[in-house]
Amino acid sequence: MPPSQELTPYERFGGHEFFASLVHEFYVEVGKDAHLRAMYPDQDLGPAEERLRLFLEQYWGGPTTYSDERGHPRLRMRHAPYVIDPQARDRWLACMRTAVDRQALPDAQERELWNYLYQAAMAMVNTMPSEPLNP
Ligand code: HEM
Repeated sequence: MPPSQELTPYERFGGHEFFASLVHEFYVEVGKDAHLRAMYPDQDLGPAEERLRLFLEQYWGGPTTYSDERGHPRLRMRHAPYVIDPQARDRWLACMRTAVDRQALPDAQERELWNYLYQAAMAMVNTMPSEPLNP
């Protein structure tokens, strides 16, 4: 085993097994949230689960299968068809928080992962509620 500074985050988190478990738990939670679930066009969440897993594995230094199969991620563009307002973002984050908690990562790694997921979710918002001009 090489010294830890040579490991990719993908390997440090636990490789394929870790990401498969994280993303699976996330979609279990999505399946329980009617508002979020209704945003996913497919009856079967399996393919969406695989796309998110492949993306996260690639992002953290694992296999590049995501881009080999789907090209450049362009995540904001790929989310443009969906109304992602702060409420949808917070529901997504709540599902992901539960999934992360179920992994029992060491604290520093959990923070590293969560900071990324939190920032990425903030950046995915594409719709803001309109405020009345004269409340
Ligand atoms: C903020 C709230 C978010 C909502 C409501 C949301 C919702 C969705 C929906 C409805 C899809 C289509 C499902 C499918 O793949 O068929 C999707 C796809 C995807 N999402 Fe999100 N998403 C959010 C945030 C994120 C974040 C933060 C990431 C990355 C860290 C992400 C990564 C992906 C990926 C990789 C795909 C598949 C893209 C593709 O290759 O077509 N999403 N998302």
